[in-house]
Amino acid sequence: MSGKNYSKAVEDIKSRVSIVEVIGSVTPLKRAGSGYMCCCPFHKEKTPSFSVSESRNFYHCFGCGESGDAIKFVQKYYNLDFQGAVERLCQQYGIVIEETRSGDDQKRDEYYEANRLAARYFYDTLSKSANKGYEYMAKRGLSAKTMQWFGIGYTGEGWSGLTDHLLKNGVSRETLLALGLSSEKNGKLFDKFRSRVMFPIINVRGKVIGFGGRIIGDGEPKYLNSPESPVYLKKLNLYGINRSKDAILREGFAILVEGYMDCVSLYQSGVENVTASCGTALTPEQAKLLKRYTKKVVLCYDSDKAGINAALRGIDVLREAGMEVSVLNVDDGKDPDEYVKKHGKDGFLDLLKNKAMPDVDYKVSILRGNYDLKDQTQGIKFFKEIASIIRGLSPVEADIYIQKYAREYSISEGALRREVESTQPEKEKSGQIVARQDVSESRQQDVVTAADVNLERMLIRLIMVKSSYLDKLSGYPEGFVTAKGRAIKDAMEFEYKPGAEFEASSLANSLTDEESEYLYRIIDNIQIGDSDELAFADCIERLDDKRAAKRVHRIHDILEMADAMPEEVVDQEQINKLLTELQTLQNRNRGKN
Ligand code: CTP
Ligand code: MN
Repeated sequence: MSGKNYSKAVEDIKSRVSIVEVIGSVTPLKRAGSGYMCCCPFHKEKTPSFSVSESRNFYHCFGCGESGDAIKFVQKYYNLDFQGAVERLCQQYGIVIEETRSGDDQKRDEYYEANRLAARYFYDTLSKSANKGYEYMAKRGLSAKTMQWFGIGYTGEGWSGLTDHLLKNGVSRETLLALGLSSEKNGKLFDKFRSRVMFPIINVRGKVIGFGGRIIGDGEPKYLNSPESPVYLKKLNLYGINRSKDAILREGFAILVEGYMDCVSLYQSGVENVTASCGTALTPEQAKLLKRYTKKVVLCYDSDKAGINAALRGIDVLREAGMEVSVLNVDDGKDPDEYVKKHGKDGFLDLLKNKAMPDVDYKVSILRGNYDLKDQTQGIKFFKEIASIIRGLSPVEADIYIQKYAREYSISEGALRREVESTQPEKEKSGQIVARQDVSESRQQDVVTAADVNLERMLIRLIMVKSSYLDKLSGYPEGFVTAKGRAIKDAMEFEYKPGAEFEASSLANSLTDEESEYLYRIIDNIQIGDSDELAFADCIERLDDKRAAKRVHRIHDILEMADAMPEEVVDQEQINKLLTELQTLQNRNRGKN
């Protein structure tokens, strides 16, 4: 791939290739206004919501949100990587990709070639005559065909077999050292990998970029991996994906495992849509690579503590990349490799069908084990942790899980919903880093005025008078602005029973000394006049005012964004609605002053 001037080719495509022609050649386009429309090729639909703009060299689907330029379209449509799409377009439109003979590109070619020769050497060593590598892999249940399919090899037992072989074939010392295949001692080169079974790591374009070498039997380190090099950036690759990408496309989902052996074993058993992250924490780049082939992933990591933690982190990375994630824990053996060897393909697929859990359920099930729900304080913490998990979800998902967990743990649905909707910044301890969807909202929340605190105190006082006010405040989590106030509200939600009033002494059980002091001070110092109902109505009005002011800000934001967008992407009806809303909000404020 190197040695070619791709950026020049990209420029040529942009200036010479019509996006309307590219898309029009695979799906009929109809003129619509200044652009073109068709049914979206990337999601099922009956009425066209896919629009193409020639002048802006841009497509956008109002249905699924997919958008991009001609290259992106070809990438998506034919499941190609960026270079693949560029090559395809160049071929189709007669654009010549010029050679660049930059020193870097030339070096990269040399590195690929050296790695290819090394892989060949290892494979020959393993496959041509009896040796410990083959014996070990066979003992672990791999067939000769699988070894060949993954190019698994053996180093042999000497000190410099590979080094000598590569030097003889014209590979430079510098290359051997840069790729971590050899090390130097007293001016002499030795093999870095000795007496190990070798797993070549091959990228989606079929280039050998590095190796993982397993010791035969027990010993340390169990795996020795190639260092990073100009052709091997660990964060960019997934082991086995060169083999499994077709199966991933075919099955519509990928199984992501931890180890080389998990990947190879599952593949051999017939579960072919599998790829491995190989011990490192999953990276956003790996998620993106996988997403080229599917949006659905089943994380199937080792069943030990490390595997669970890796899965929890992996969930967040994959979600962040927009993937749909579930988690499967093998319940027999320590990893998928052992499981599938014992139970075979069908056993594994049964497990997958019956035991794989949506990521949210998985997180909650892991959390559940950390809390004793008979203890009220722990119960509240658990409940808040659930809320913080749900907070990272889309509104539709959030709704489903709120209902589900409220039922499952017998907590009030309204309370859980309020907790989820509260935008307080929390310290999240257990690794559930959930992205707040609404940054500007929390930004605006940061400024807490004395009036806000007084309002919070009034709300708490009123709830102590009538517990039913708590439910009426369900839509106003922003009314509670201090940490202490929120803690009190949480305790109230946990204890809430319709019809029963709160007792400060009972709430105090789940509050810290400071929090209950705050509560007692509120009760002692705030007088409510003749009518608590009027007082409450006044509070609600103040909350509504605050909310209106915030909404005005938000609408200004959206309008500004719309200004910066290509006009055909902006739904004018939406904009008109926003303008009307803005007008109403502004009239409301004017009416008050
Ligand atoms: N790993 C590594 N270096 C180590 C141990 C592990 O790079 N010293 C990586 C390897 O990619 C390995 C993965 O982490 O495949 C998972 O580790 P582990 O579960 O210990 O290995 P297995 O794949 O189960 O290997 P085996 O079955 O051969 O023991
Ligand atoms: Mn393992």
